[in-house]
Amino acid sequence: MINEILKNNKKSWDKVAHHFNGKDALPSYGPFTQTEEELRLFVDLTNKKILDIGCGSGHSLRYMAEKGASELWGVDLSQSQIETARETLKGMNPKLYCAPMEKDINLPKKYFDFVYSIYAIGWTMDLSATFKLIYSYLKPGGTFIFSWDHPLYAHLKCENGRIILEGSYQNEGTVTYDNFKGEDAPMVIPTRKMSTYINELIKADFTIEKVIESDVSESFDSIEVEVSDRYYSLYKARKFPTTMIIKAQKE
Ligand SMILES: C[S@@+](CC[C@H](N)C(=O)[O-])C[C@H]1O[C@@H](n2cnc3c(N)ncnc32)[C@H](O)[C@@H]1O
Repeated sequence: MINEILKNNKKSWDKVAHHFNGKDALPSYGPFTQTEEELRLFVDLTNKKILDIGCGSGHSLRYMAEKGASELWGVDLSQSQIETARETLKGMNPKLYCAPMEKDINLPKKYFDFVYSIYAIGWTMDLSATFKLIYSYLKPGGTFIFSWDHPLYAHLKCENGRIILEGSYQNEGTVTYDNFKGEDAPMVIPTRKMSTYINELIKADFTIEKVIESDVSESFDSIEVEVSDRYYSLYKARKFPTTMIIKAQKE
């Protein structure tokens, strides 16, 4: 079942990848969200070995290189994204793998200073296995940072400026989109509660250092808010966090 979903999601990601070239990439942690320049979660990247889970077009890894990282590794389900990442990271000697984050593909264990994931972790069909793998990749003392849609945000719909709850936050499972990004690209996305992410990190033996429910980046301070019913809007983001960001350590 999981393999079937991953196979179909991979096909669809190859179709929609072009919508995500350079989108959802560091220093951004997510839509309207404070950036790495504001939050400073990575502290020091000089000579650090880095692994990006769901590396997409490679723009976050490029940011890591600009900040002094010495090794750039990335995993992504989509071949098309991996090819774009190779272009983005030309001359930087990246190690890129087209594979599902849920699977052990023999990446080095106890090796990385940082493993991170920007708007990709929620795609995993097996959160428990993914967190355990990430834990195994990190050196003792290493750090895992990820951002994803705030789990409640996905249920908040705006109608004529009023925010209403859609569906049930209680029911975890999957949602199927027949036409992701308006393309003939059916996609299955898991839905989880905030506590599930936190509890799975604890089960994988991580120590949680910080949980951030995003605020709006200061770059939007001078922008006047207009009422909007869009899924991501400044209007909605001023009332509720779009993004959750979690920083956790391997002791
Ligand atoms: C919104 S993009 C992430 C952008 C990326 N973090 C960046 O810095 O540019 C989500 C990515 O997750 C990847 N993805 C989806 N499901 C995945 C899975 N099960 N394993 C690995 N990657 C996956 C997609 O192919 C896509 O590139």
